[in-house]
Amino acid sequence: MGDEADAGGRAEKLPIQGKRNILITSALPYVNNVPHLGNIIGSVLSADVFSRYCRLRGYNAIYICGTDEYGTATETKAMEENCSPQQICDKYHTIHKEVYNWFNISFDEFGRTSTLQQTEVCHAIFKKLMENNWLSENTMQQLYCDTCERFLADRLVEGICPFPDCNYDSARGDQCENCAKLLNPTELKEPRCKVCQTSPRVRDTDHLFLELPLLKDKLEDYINNMSVSGSWSQNAIQATYAWLKEGLRPRCITRDLKWGVPVPHEKFKDKVFYVWFDAPIGYVSITSCYTPNWEKWWKNPENVELYQFMGKDNVPFHTVMFPSTLLGTGENWTLMKGISVTEYLNYEAGKFSKSKGVGVFGNDVKETNIPAEVWRYYLLTNRPED
Ligand code: 2FM
Ligand code: ZN
Repeated sequence: MGDEADAGGRAEKLPIQGKRNILITSALPYVNNVPHLGNIIGSVLSADVFSRYCRLRGYNAIYICGTDEYGTATETKAMEENCSPQQICDKYHTIHKEVYNWFNISFDEFGRTSTLQQTEVCHAIFKKLMENNWLSENTMQQLYCDTCERFLADRLVEGICPFPDCNYDSARGDQCENCAKLLNPTELKEPRCKVCQTSPRVRDTDHLFLELPLLKDKLEDYINNMSVSGSWSQNAIQATYAWLKEGLRPRCITRDLKWGVPVPHEKFKDKVFYVWFDAPIGYVSITSCYTPNWEKWWKNPENVELYQFMGKDNVPFHTVMFPSTLLGTGENWTLMKGISVTEYLNYEAGKFSKSKGVGVFGNDVKETNIPAEVWRYYLLTNRPED
């Protein structure tokens, strides 16, 4: 793993004046499932190859990754497996670690987001955003289950599809699987809680929003400059401008859940941050587990180049949301310079899908007795690029 192991363990790498200092990340995989080949080529393996290349060139590079552990998906999985969210995270964190280890992925740190460090970094960033007035409050209507005593995440509600030509009776709160149309859970006819089958009611709930429209100029300056001077893949540029074109709207950054980073604000103290608000902050907090001098990597744009690897669906969170969060603090953060994006990897005729169990999963691969090197080579030569 680390290069300069000494008697006391691993020596941390810090930016060195006059050298190319390269901070590499790959998207933090959700912890609620076993990784499949699409995840592996899509982010960790591609970032691994880039990290190895950088080290061979004599650049001073570190590669950071870890599991993305908070949010509804984990809570739901915990219910399914009849255990606590923490137990789910512990179990799947270990599975992810073993799979990547088998693939010889050369992380400098492979961490996780359910840590104290994550809470600390999130809170520090949140406080700056508050101080700088980039956050607003708004009331939303959401479905609440009186039996379960909680607000229901979109996927935890089912009902009749509101589109008259469909009328499917098991449409999910976020999308109808029959007609594929996107929905709001409050639009479902005869909604029912997926857990207890009783009918939820509409209830007001207050949330905090990041005021993207107010941050627009700062954000566009960053994107226009960096997408040209840095290295952004074509598909990343396209997805980003498509988002900007639709117009920036305030983004809700809080959720009525328990399993997440608590919101340090009297009025919102029973809520947690939205998982897509805290996940990218995970890159920072995992670096802070690697070295107490993490700010030398993350608050040092003059001397550090940040390269991020991910699958296509993650792009706007890394080119719009996360940069806006960091710019909003008014601090001197190392913003992403290079982004490399893969398309979806296909399995026979269709897409890989974790939820549908279609594809080849990390743990199956081990059992083929085909060496990791062969898998690495195969995946890299078939890397789904634009
Ligand atoms: O798509 C995913 O698997 C997300 N967990 C990626 C998060 S990337 C980063 F922001 F942490
Ligand atoms: Zn219920």
